[in-house]
Amino acid sequence: MEFLKGEISMLKASVQELQQHATPLYVYNLDLLRQTLQKAKQEANKYNYHVHYALKANANEPILAEMLQAGLGADCVSGNEVKRAIENGFKPENVVFAGVGKSDSEINYALDQDIFCFNCESSHELIVLNELAEQKNKKARIALRINPNVNANTHKYITTGLEENKFGINAWELQDVVALLKTLPNLELIGIHFHIGSQITDLSVFKNLCTRVNEFQEWFVAQNIQLEHINVGGGLGVDYYNPEQQLIPDFEAYFGLFNQFLELRPGQQVHFELGRSLVAQCGTLVSKVLYIKKGMTTNFAILDAGMTELIRPALYQSYHKIENLTSEAAEERYDVVGPICESSDCFGKAVMLPETNRGDLIAIHTAGAYGEVMASGYNLREKATAIYLN
Ligand code: LLP
Repeated sequence: MEFLKGEISMLKASVQELQQHATPLYVYNLDLLRQTLQKAKQEANKYNYHVHYALKANANEPILAEMLQAGLGADCVSGNEVKRAIENGFKPENVVFAGVGKSDSEINYALDQDIFCFNCESSHELIVLNELAEQKNKKARIALRINPNVNANTHKYITTGLEENKFGINAWELQDVVALLKTLPNLELIGIHFHIGSQITDLSVFKNLCTRVNEFQEWFVAQNIQLEHINVGGGLGVDYYNPEQQLIPDFEAYFGLFNQFLELRPGQQVHFELGRSLVAQCGTLVSKVLYIKKGMTTNFAILDAGMTELIRPALYQSYHKIENLTSEAAEERYDVVGPICESSDCFGKAVMLPETNRGDLIAIHTAGAYGEVMASGYNLREKATAIYLN
């Protein structure tokens, strides 16, 4: 894995090519993506697990082509994501559709496509889905998204599996939901679904999830309900601090843990919805330094990329490793900021960088997931372009 260790120097080696492109620029390393997918598939295949790629992390077509090539299904949270997946070759029978607020037109589109499963998040949604399916004379396959009340130990904005969160059906509602389902003939219950949060680095959290899933399974057995599909969502975190040390997440430990702790009934199929762990490390946001400005206690390196290209630091105070690709001078301390009219438009405070000048290329690493896809046009900014290195 020579190349993997040298990911950052590979970008340095590509500086001449990068300089030919306008910035800000998203750069994707497809070779790293392929190696990541190969490892994920290899580990999931050991237990016949199904992996769906969560398009919300990055829905660029060349990225989707790799997911398809690797044999992954698609996990979608909007009608347009379902459409993007299907238009890019994912078979409807490999598409799952979650979300607390599916609109009628999104549901109708997914019904027309005969997707594999709707992950349903409330009784009200079940009633509406049943009605819309009835109008089309169809039976929709559904999984109940259950809120297991498991703490994901991650940032509060990306925690989804606590009772205070809007996601999923709470345990105390299940009895009523199951009774309701008996009155909804155009729905077919095929499984249960969970997703407790994102950027989970403490694997014991997933062990707690397994324990809760096992308890719910007991409950369904007691109700005499057979479930063929158990979907445990996504959430596996990546190393933002030292990306080059673990460019490929530990899929062996991750899938191995579910194999060890999840109790399955005969014939049950297990599904995962991975986003970040598959694409985060293969993407870098490359930006040019516009100005250097002396502050009271620090220098500001003002970039041509801002929170409009990568909002994670502003929204979740998240860390992304920052590097100067073009300077090798002695290090100084900088606040690395963008051009947007918001003080939160800051990629990193007190970052040690080689002496930085106008025109230097700056790499902001681990930006492949929830980077480009969360871009906005605030300040009437134009969308950054993307290039793909093999
Ligand atoms: N399944 C469902 C139902 C989800 O809501 C999500 C992510 C995933 C799967 C994929 O989770 P992953 O494997 O990527 O952790 N914008 C935030 C992350 C939001 C995640 C939303 N749901 C960020 O930049 O950290």
